[in-house]
Amino acid sequence: METQVGIVGAGPAGLVLSHLLHLAGIDSVVLEQRSRSYVESRIRAGVLEQGSTDLLIETGVGARMLAEGAVHEGVNLQFDGQRHRIDLARLTGRRITVYGQQEVVKDLIAARLAAGGTIVFEADDVTPRGIDGAHPTIAFRHEGSERELSCDVVAGCDGFHGVCRGLIPDGVLTEFAREYPFAWLGVLAQVAPSTDELIYAFHARGFALHSLRSPEISRLYLQVDPADDIANWPDDRIWEELQLRLASPGWALDEGSIVEKAITAMRSYVCEPMQHGHLYLAGDAAHIVPPTGAKGMNLAIADVTVLARALSDWFGGGDHGGLDAYSERCLRRVWRVQDFSNTMTELMHVLPRGDPFASRVQLARQRYVATSAAMQHTIAENYVGLPLA
Ligand code: APR
Ligand code: PHB
Repeated sequence: METQVGIVGAGPAGLVLSHLLHLAGIDSVVLEQRSRSYVESRIRAGVLEQGSTDLLIETGVGARMLAEGAVHEGVNLQFDGQRHRIDLARLTGRRITVYGQQEVVKDLIAARLAAGGTIVFEADDVTPRGIDGAHPTIAFRHEGSERELSCDVVAGCDGFHGVCRGLIPDGVLTEFAREYPFAWLGVLAQVAPSTDELIYAFHARGFALHSLRSPEISRLYLQVDPADDIANWPDDRIWEELQLRLASPGWALDEGSIVEKAITAMRSYVCEPMQHGHLYLAGDAAHIVPPTGAKGMNLAIADVTVLARALSDWFGGGDHGGLDAYSERCLRRVWRVQDFSNTMTELMHVLPRGDPFASRVQLARQRYVATSAAMQHTIAENYVGLPLA
Protein backbone atom coordinates (compact mmCIF):
# COMPACT_ATOMS: atom_id res chain seq x y z
CA MET A 1 0.00 0.00 0.00
CA GLU A 2 1.11 3.51 -0.74
CA THR A 3 -0.21 6.95 0.14
CA GLN A 4 0.94 10.52 0.74
CA VAL A 5 -0.10 10.81 4.39
CA GLY A 6 -0.30 7.76 6.68
CA ILE A 7 -2.69 8.65 9.51
CA VAL A 8 -2.66 6.62 12.74
CA GLY A 9 -6.01 6.82 14.58
CA ALA A 10 -9.63 7.42 13.53
CA GLY A 11 -10.69 9.87 16.24
CA PRO A 12 -11.67 13.47 15.45
CA ALA A 13 -8.03 14.42 14.71
CA GLY A 14 -7.31 11.62 12.22
CA LEU A 15 -10.68 11.77 10.50
CA VAL A 16 -10.86 15.56 10.11
CA LEU A 17 -7.28 15.51 8.79
CA SER A 18 -8.09 12.81 6.23
CA HIS A 19 -11.19 14.77 5.17
CA LEU A 20 -9.35 18.11 4.79
CA LEU A 21 -6.51 16.45 2.86
CA HIS A 22 -9.00 14.84 0.50
CA LEU A 23 -10.53 18.27 -0.20
CA ALA A 24 -7.00 19.56 -0.96
CA GLY A 25 -6.40 16.68 -3.39
CA ILE A 26 -3.97 14.84 -1.07
CA ASP A 27 -4.25 11.08 -0.60
CA SER A 28 -4.26 9.52 2.88
CA VAL A 29 -4.90 6.18 4.57
CA VAL A 30 -6.21 5.96 8.14
CA LEU A 31 -5.10 3.01 10.32
CA GLU A 32 -7.33 2.46 13.37
CA GLN A 33 -6.82 -0.29 15.92
CA ARG A 34 -10.49 -0.52 16.97
CA SER A 35 -13.54 -1.58 14.99
CA ARG A 36 -15.83 0.90 13.27
CA SER A 37 -18.69 0.16 15.67
CA TYR A 38 -16.38 0.67 18.66
CA VAL A 39 -15.21 4.14 17.60
CA GLU A 40 -18.73 5.12 16.59
CA SER A 41 -20.20 4.29 19.97
CA ARG A 42 -17.38 5.41 22.31
CA ILE A 43 -18.91 8.09 24.55
CA ARG A 44 -16.82 11.22 24.90
CA ALA A 45 -17.39 14.96 25.35
CA GLY A 46 -19.77 16.94 23.22
CA VAL A 47 -19.10 20.67 23.02
CA LEU A 48 -18.00 22.21 19.71
CA GLU A 49 -16.66 25.75 19.51
CA GLN A 50 -18.08 27.89 16.74
CA GLY A 51 -14.80 27.63 14.81
CA SER A 52 -15.13 23.82 14.85
CA THR A 53 -18.78 23.83 13.72
CA ASP A 54 -18.02 26.40 11.00
CA LEU A 55 -15.23 24.17 9.69
CA LEU A 56 -17.45 21.06 9.63
CA ILE A 57 -20.23 22.98 7.84
CA GLU A 58 -17.90 24.67 5.32
CA THR A 59 -16.28 21.37 4.42
CA GLY A 60 -19.59 19.59 3.83
CA VAL A 61 -19.84 17.35 6.91
CA GLY A 62 -22.14 19.50 9.06
CA ALA A 63 -25.63 18.54 7.81
CA ARG A 64 -26.59 16.14 10.60
CA MET A 65 -24.94 18.34 13.24
CA LEU A 66 -27.05 21.28 12.00
CA ALA A 67 -30.19 19.15 12.21
CA GLU A 68 -29.54 17.34 15.50
CA GLY A 69 -26.98 19.40 17.43
CA ALA A 70 -28.14 22.06 19.88
CA VAL A 71 -26.81 25.61 19.47
CA HIS A 72 -26.28 27.25 22.88
CA GLU A 73 -25.94 30.98 23.44
CA GLY A 74 -24.91 30.76 27.08
CA VAL A 75 -23.59 28.58 29.91
CA ASN A 76 -24.29 28.68 33.64
CA LEU A 77 -21.74 28.71 36.43
CA GLN A 78 -23.27 27.95 39.82
CA PHE A 79 -21.70 28.55 43.22
CA ASP A 80 -23.50 27.13 46.25
CA GLY A 81 -26.92 27.21 44.59
CA GLN A 82 -26.60 30.63 42.95
CA ARG A 83 -26.62 30.38 39.16
CA HIS A 84 -24.77 32.91 37.00
CA ARG A 85 -25.43 32.84 33.26
CA ILE A 86 -22.53 33.71 30.98
CA ASP A 87 -24.15 35.15 27.87
CA LEU A 88 -21.74 33.84 25.24
CA ALA A 89 -23.60 35.29 22.28
CA ARG A 90 -23.93 38.79 23.72
CA LEU A 91 -20.37 38.92 25.02
CA THR A 92 -18.61 37.43 21.99
CA GLY A 93 -21.08 37.18 19.10
CA ARG A 94 -20.23 33.47 19.02
CA ARG A 95 -22.03 30.30 20.08
CA ILE A 96 -21.27 26.68 20.92
CA THR A 97 -22.94 23.52 19.63
CA VAL A 98 -23.64 20.49 21.81
CA TYR A 99 -23.23 17.38 19.62
CA GLY A 100 -21.60 14.16 20.84
CA GLN A 101 -18.06 13.46 19.69
CA GLN A 102 -19.07 10.01 18.46
CA GLU A 103 -21.67 11.65 16.21
CA VAL A 104 -18.92 13.82 14.68
CA VAL A 105 -16.88 10.64 14.22
CA LYS A 106 -19.82 8.84 12.53
CA ASP A 107 -20.38 11.73 10.11
CA LEU A 108 -16.70 11.89 9.18
CA ILE A 109 -16.36 8.14 8.64
CA ALA A 110 -19.45 8.18 6.40
CA ALA A 111 -18.05 11.11 4.40
CA ARG A 112 -14.61 9.54 3.95
CA LEU A 113 -16.03 6.21 2.82
CA ALA A 114 -18.53 7.89 0.47
CA ALA A 115 -15.63 9.77 -1.13
CA GLY A 116 -13.72 6.50 -1.68
CA GLY A 117 -11.31 7.09 1.23
CA THR A 118 -9.50 4.22 2.97
CA ILE A 119 -9.90 3.62 6.70
CA VAL A 120 -8.44 0.32 7.89
CA PHE A 121 -10.30 -0.63 11.08
CA GLU A 122 -8.92 -3.29 13.43
CA ALA A 123 -5.34 -2.66 12.31
CA ASP A 124 -3.10 -4.37 14.90
CA ASP A 125 0.48 -3.62 15.96
CA VAL A 126 0.62 -0.37 14.01
CA THR A 127 4.35 0.51 13.87
CA PRO A 128 5.64 3.59 12.03
CA ARG A 129 9.27 3.25 10.89
CA GLY A 130 11.87 5.50 9.31
CA ILE A 131 10.32 8.85 10.31
CA ASP A 132 13.84 10.36 10.22
CA GLY A 133 14.38 9.38 6.58
CA ALA A 134 12.69 10.40 3.33
CA HIS A 135 10.55 7.24 3.06
CA PRO A 136 8.61 6.41 6.21
CA THR A 137 6.55 3.24 6.36
CA ILE A 138 3.88 2.01 8.73
CA ALA A 139 3.83 -1.73 9.42
CA PHE A 140 0.61 -3.27 10.74
CA ARG A 141 -1.34 -6.51 10.86
CA HIS A 142 -4.79 -6.82 9.37
CA GLU A 143 -7.03 -9.89 9.16
CA GLY A 144 -4.07 -12.09 10.06
CA SER A 145 -1.60 -10.83 7.45
CA GLU A 146 1.39 -8.50 7.78
CA ARG A 147 0.95 -5.28 5.80
CA GLU A 148 3.03 -2.20 5.11
CA LEU A 149 1.97 1.31 4.14
CA SER A 150 4.56 3.56 2.44
CA CYS A 151 3.98 7.28 2.86
CA ASP A 152 5.68 10.66 2.69
CA VAL A 153 4.47 11.79 6.11
CA VAL A 154 3.07 10.09 9.22
CA ALA A 155 0.31 11.87 11.16
CA GLY A 156 0.15 10.61 14.75
CA CYS A 157 -3.53 11.06 15.62
CA ASP A 158 -3.63 8.04 17.92
CA GLY A 159 -4.71 9.65 21.17
CA PHE A 160 -2.95 9.83 24.52
CA HIS A 161 -2.21 6.08 24.71
CA GLY A 162 -1.07 5.75 21.10
CA VAL A 163 2.31 4.66 19.76
CA CYS A 164 3.37 7.70 17.75
CA ARG A 165 4.46 10.09 20.50
CA GLY A 166 6.92 7.44 21.72
CA LEU A 167 8.81 7.68 18.41
CA ILE A 168 10.13 11.13 19.29
CA PRO A 169 13.57 10.49 20.86
CA ASP A 170 14.09 11.18 24.57
CA GLY A 171 16.53 14.03 24.11
CA VAL A 172 14.14 15.82 21.76
CA LEU A 173 10.85 15.39 23.61
CA THR A 174 9.92 17.54 26.60
CA GLU A 175 6.80 16.61 28.55
CA PHE A 176 4.73 18.90 30.76
CA ALA A 177 2.16 17.22 32.98
CA ARG A 178 -0.18 17.90 35.87
CA GLU A 179 -2.36 15.31 37.60
CA TYR A 180 -5.46 16.53 39.43
CA PRO A 181 -6.56 15.11 42.77
CA PHE A 182 -10.06 14.42 41.42
CA ALA A 183 -11.81 12.53 38.62
CA TRP A 184 -15.17 12.77 36.82
CA LEU A 185 -17.89 10.17 37.09
CA GLY A 186 -19.84 10.62 33.84
CA VAL A 187 -23.35 9.27 33.24
CA LEU A 188 -25.66 9.10 30.27
CA ALA A 189 -29.30 9.09 31.38
CA GLN A 190 -32.55 8.49 29.54
CA VAL A 191 -34.35 11.59 30.71
CA ALA A 192 -35.16 14.95 29.14
CA PRO A 193 -32.50 17.46 30.23
CA SER A 194 -33.70 19.65 33.11
CA THR A 195 -31.88 22.62 31.55
CA ASP A 196 -31.58 24.25 28.12
CA GLU A 197 -27.98 25.32 28.77
CA LEU A 198 -25.06 23.65 30.52
CA ILE A 199 -24.77 24.06 34.29
CA TYR A 200 -21.29 23.87 35.87
CA ALA A 201 -21.89 23.70 39.63
CA PHE A 202 -19.49 24.18 42.53
CA HIS A 203 -20.81 22.68 45.78
CA ALA A 204 -19.16 21.90 49.09
CA ARG A 205 -19.68 18.17 48.29
CA GLY A 206 -17.87 18.54 44.96
CA PHE A 207 -18.32 19.71 41.38
CA ALA A 208 -21.27 18.63 39.21
CA LEU A 209 -22.10 19.30 35.56
CA HIS A 210 -25.42 19.02 33.79
CA SER A 211 -24.97 18.69 30.03
CA LEU A 212 -27.21 17.20 27.36
CA ARG A 213 -27.21 15.14 24.22
CA SER A 214 -30.76 15.27 22.82
CA PRO A 215 -34.32 16.13 23.93
CA GLU A 216 -34.44 12.65 25.52
CA ILE A 217 -30.86 12.13 26.75
CA SER A 218 -29.00 13.98 29.52
CA ARG A 219 -25.26 13.88 30.17
CA LEU A 220 -24.21 14.47 33.79
CA TYR A 221 -20.93 14.44 35.70
CA LEU A 222 -19.83 14.35 39.35
CA GLN A 223 -16.43 15.11 40.88
CA VAL A 224 -15.19 11.93 42.60
CA ASP A 225 -11.95 10.68 44.08
CA PRO A 226 -9.61 9.31 41.36
CA ALA A 227 -9.18 6.12 43.42
CA ASP A 228 -12.95 5.60 43.61
CA ASP A 229 -14.54 2.57 41.94
CA ILE A 230 -17.66 2.80 39.78
CA ALA A 231 -18.97 -0.21 41.75
CA ASN A 232 -19.39 2.18 44.69
CA TRP A 233 -21.89 4.23 42.69
CA PRO A 234 -25.28 2.56 42.30
CA ASP A 235 -27.72 4.70 40.30
CA ASP A 236 -29.61 5.88 43.40
CA ARG A 237 -26.44 7.27 44.93
CA ILE A 238 -25.56 9.09 41.70
CA TRP A 239 -28.97 10.80 41.53
CA GLU A 240 -28.89 11.68 45.22
CA GLU A 241 -25.52 13.35 44.79
CA LEU A 242 -26.53 15.15 41.59
CA GLN A 243 -29.67 16.44 43.34
CA LEU A 244 -27.61 17.86 46.21
CA ARG A 245 -24.87 19.42 44.13
CA LEU A 246 -26.99 20.88 41.31
CA ALA A 247 -29.82 22.16 43.57
CA SER A 248 -30.84 25.76 42.98
CA PRO A 249 -33.91 27.61 44.29
CA GLY A 250 -36.98 27.15 42.07
CA TRP A 251 -35.32 24.50 39.88
CA ALA A 252 -35.73 20.72 39.85
CA LEU A 253 -33.60 17.95 38.39
CA ASP A 254 -35.57 15.16 36.69
CA GLU A 255 -34.24 11.62 37.09
CA GLY A 256 -34.26 8.75 34.61
CA SER A 257 -32.58 5.45 33.93
CA ILE A 258 -28.80 5.54 33.68
CA VAL A 259 -27.60 3.77 30.53
CA GLU A 260 -23.85 4.34 30.87
CA LYS A 261 -21.50 5.30 33.69
CA ALA A 262 -17.72 5.51 34.02
CA ILE A 263 -14.99 7.27 36.01
CA THR A 264 -12.28 9.15 34.11
CA ALA A 265 -9.12 10.62 35.63
CA MET A 266 -8.27 14.25 34.87
CA ARG A 267 -4.91 15.45 33.71
CA SER A 268 -3.15 18.18 31.81
CA TYR A 269 -0.35 17.13 29.47
CA VAL A 270 1.66 18.69 26.65
CA CYS A 271 4.56 17.28 24.67
CA GLU A 272 6.94 19.59 22.86
CA PRO A 273 7.68 19.66 19.99
CA MET A 274 4.64 18.13 18.29
CA GLN A 275 6.78 17.09 15.34
CA HIS A 276 9.93 15.08 14.59
CA GLY A 277 11.32 14.15 11.17
CA HIS A 278 8.33 13.22 9.03
CA LEU A 279 6.07 12.57 12.03
CA TYR A 280 3.46 15.16 13.04
CA LEU A 281 1.36 14.63 16.19
CA ALA A 282 -2.16 16.04 16.49
CA GLY A 283 -4.92 16.00 19.11
CA ASP A 284 -4.71 13.89 22.28
CA ALA A 285 -1.51 12.23 20.99
CA ALA A 286 0.25 15.52 21.81
CA HIS A 287 -1.83 17.05 24.59
CA ILE A 288 -4.59 16.39 27.11
CA VAL A 289 -6.74 18.99 28.85
CA PRO A 290 -9.04 18.42 31.81
CA PRO A 291 -12.63 18.40 30.49
CA THR A 292 -13.86 21.41 32.51
CA GLY A 293 -13.12 23.78 29.62
CA ALA A 294 -14.80 21.51 27.02
CA LYS A 295 -11.81 21.84 24.71
CA GLY A 296 -10.45 18.35 23.82
CA MET A 297 -12.20 17.80 20.48
CA ASN A 298 -11.77 21.46 19.48
CA LEU A 299 -8.01 21.38 20.03
CA ALA A 300 -7.77 18.23 17.91
CA ILE A 301 -9.67 19.96 15.10
CA ALA A 302 -7.51 23.10 15.43
CA ASP A 303 -4.27 21.08 15.15
CA VAL A 304 -5.28 19.27 12.00
CA THR A 305 -6.55 22.46 10.37
CA VAL A 306 -3.01 23.86 10.70
CA LEU A 307 -1.48 20.55 9.59
CA ALA A 308 -3.71 20.14 6.53
CA ARG A 309 -2.84 23.62 5.31
CA ALA A 310 0.89 23.05 5.88
CA LEU A 311 0.79 19.71 4.05
CA SER A 312 -1.11 21.29 1.19
CA ASP A 313 1.59 24.00 0.83
CA TRP A 314 4.26 21.31 0.79
CA PHE A 315 2.65 18.78 -1.55
CA GLY A 316 1.28 21.58 -3.73
CA GLY A 317 4.34 23.73 -4.25
CA GLY A 318 7.21 22.35 -2.19
CA ASP A 319 6.87 25.06 0.49
CA HIS A 320 8.03 23.52 3.80
CA GLY A 321 7.45 26.69 5.87
CA GLY A 322 4.05 25.66 7.23
CA LEU A 323 5.36 22.26 8.31
CA ASP A 324 8.40 23.84 9.99
CA ALA A 325 6.09 26.18 11.92
CA TYR A 326 3.47 23.49 12.71
CA SER A 327 4.49 22.71 16.25
CA GLU A 328 4.97 26.30 17.36
CA ARG A 329 1.71 27.42 15.79
CA CYS A 330 -0.28 24.66 17.49
CA LEU A 331 1.43 25.03 20.85
CA ARG A 332 0.37 28.69 21.15
CA ARG A 333 -3.26 27.63 21.13
CA VAL A 334 -2.57 24.52 23.21
CA TRP A 335 -1.06 26.54 26.05
CA ARG A 336 -3.83 29.18 25.92
CA VAL A 337 -6.34 26.35 26.25
CA GLN A 338 -4.28 24.66 29.00
CA ASP A 339 -4.47 27.90 30.99
CA PHE A 340 -8.24 28.20 30.50
CA SER A 341 -8.94 24.52 31.24
CA ASN A 342 -6.79 24.64 34.36
CA THR A 343 -8.45 27.87 35.54
CA MET A 344 -11.95 26.44 35.05
CA THR A 345 -10.93 23.20 36.78
CA GLU A 346 -9.48 24.96 39.82
CA LEU A 347 -12.43 27.37 39.97
CA MET A 348 -15.12 24.68 40.00
CA HIS A 349 -13.75 21.67 41.96
CA VAL A 350 -13.52 21.19 45.68
CA LEU A 351 -9.79 21.29 46.39
CA PRO A 352 -8.12 18.78 48.69
CA ARG A 353 -8.23 19.70 52.35
CA GLY A 354 -5.10 21.05 53.92
CA ASP A 355 -4.67 24.17 51.82
CA PRO A 356 -7.01 26.74 53.38
CA PHE A 357 -5.22 29.59 51.57
CA ALA A 358 -6.02 28.03 48.17
CA SER A 359 -9.65 27.55 49.21
CA ARG A 360 -10.00 31.23 50.20
CA VAL A 361 -8.44 32.34 46.89
CA GLN A 362 -10.88 30.05 45.09
CA LEU A 363 -13.83 31.61 46.93
CA ALA A 364 -12.60 35.11 46.04
CA ARG A 365 -12.33 34.07 42.40
CA GLN A 366 -15.84 32.59 42.39
CA ARG A 367 -17.21 35.84 43.81
CA TYR A 368 -15.32 37.77 41.15
CA VAL A 369 -16.80 35.57 38.38
CA ALA A 370 -20.25 36.11 39.85
CA THR A 371 -19.96 39.90 39.90
CA SER A 372 -17.45 41.11 37.32
CA ALA A 373 -18.49 41.74 33.71
CA ALA A 374 -14.79 41.75 32.76
CA MET A 375 -14.25 38.26 34.22
CA GLN A 376 -17.40 36.93 32.56
CA HIS A 377 -16.17 38.33 29.26
CA THR A 378 -12.83 36.58 29.72
CA ILE A 379 -14.54 33.26 30.39
CA ALA A 380 -16.90 33.69 27.43
CA GLU A 381 -14.08 34.57 25.03
CA ASN A 382 -12.11 31.46 26.01
CA TYR A 383 -15.14 29.17 26.17
CA VAL A 384 -16.35 29.92 22.62
CA GLY A 385 -12.76 29.56 21.43
CA LEU A 386 -10.23 31.50 19.41
CA PRO A 387 -10.81 31.64 15.65
CA LEU A 388 -9.08 28.83 13.77
CA ALA A 389 -5.76 29.81 12.16
N1 APR B 1 -2.90 2.08 16.40
C1 APR B 1 -3.99 2.52 15.73
N2 APR B 1 -4.93 3.32 16.28
C2 APR B 1 -4.76 3.69 17.56
C3 APR B 1 -3.62 3.28 18.31
C4 APR B 1 -2.68 2.45 17.68
N3 APR B 1 -1.60 2.00 18.34
N4 APR B 1 -3.72 3.80 19.55
C5 APR B 1 -4.85 4.51 19.58
N5 APR B 1 -5.49 4.45 18.39
C6 APR B 1 -6.76 5.08 18.01
C7 APR B 1 -7.83 5.02 19.09
O1 APR B 1 -8.54 3.79 19.08
C8 APR B 1 -8.71 6.20 18.71
O2 APR B 1 -9.75 5.82 17.83
O3 APR B 1 -6.55 6.46 17.82
C9 APR B 1 -7.77 7.16 18.00
C10 APR B 1 -7.50 8.41 18.82
O4 APR B 1 -8.71 9.13 18.93
P1 APR B 1 -9.07 10.06 20.19
O5 APR B 1 -8.62 9.41 21.43
O6 APR B 1 -10.50 10.41 20.04
O7 APR B 1 -8.13 11.34 20.00
P2 APR B 1 -8.22 12.59 19.02
O8 APR B 1 -8.64 12.21 17.66
O9 APR B 1 -6.95 13.33 19.24
O10 APR B 1 -9.42 13.45 19.59
C11 APR B 1 -9.33 14.15 20.81
O11 APR B 1 -10.85 12.76 21.96
O12 APR B 1 -10.26 11.85 24.02
C12 APR B 1 -11.04 12.76 23.37
O13 APR B 1 -11.42 14.46 24.93
C13 APR B 1 -10.65 14.09 23.83
O14 APR B 1 -12.27 15.25 22.71
C14 APR B 1 -10.91 14.92 22.65
C15 APR B 1 -10.66 14.08 21.47
C1 PHB C 1 -20.31 16.90 27.72
O1 PHB C 1 -21.43 17.24 27.30
O2 PHB C 1 -19.94 15.72 27.69
C2 PHB C 1 -19.41 17.91 28.31
C3 PHB C 1 -19.82 19.24 28.34
C4 PHB C 1 -18.99 20.20 28.90
C5 PHB C 1 -17.77 19.83 29.41
C6 PHB C 1 -17.35 18.52 29.37
C7 PHB C 1 -18.18 17.55 28.83
O3 PHB C 1 -16.97 20.78 29.97
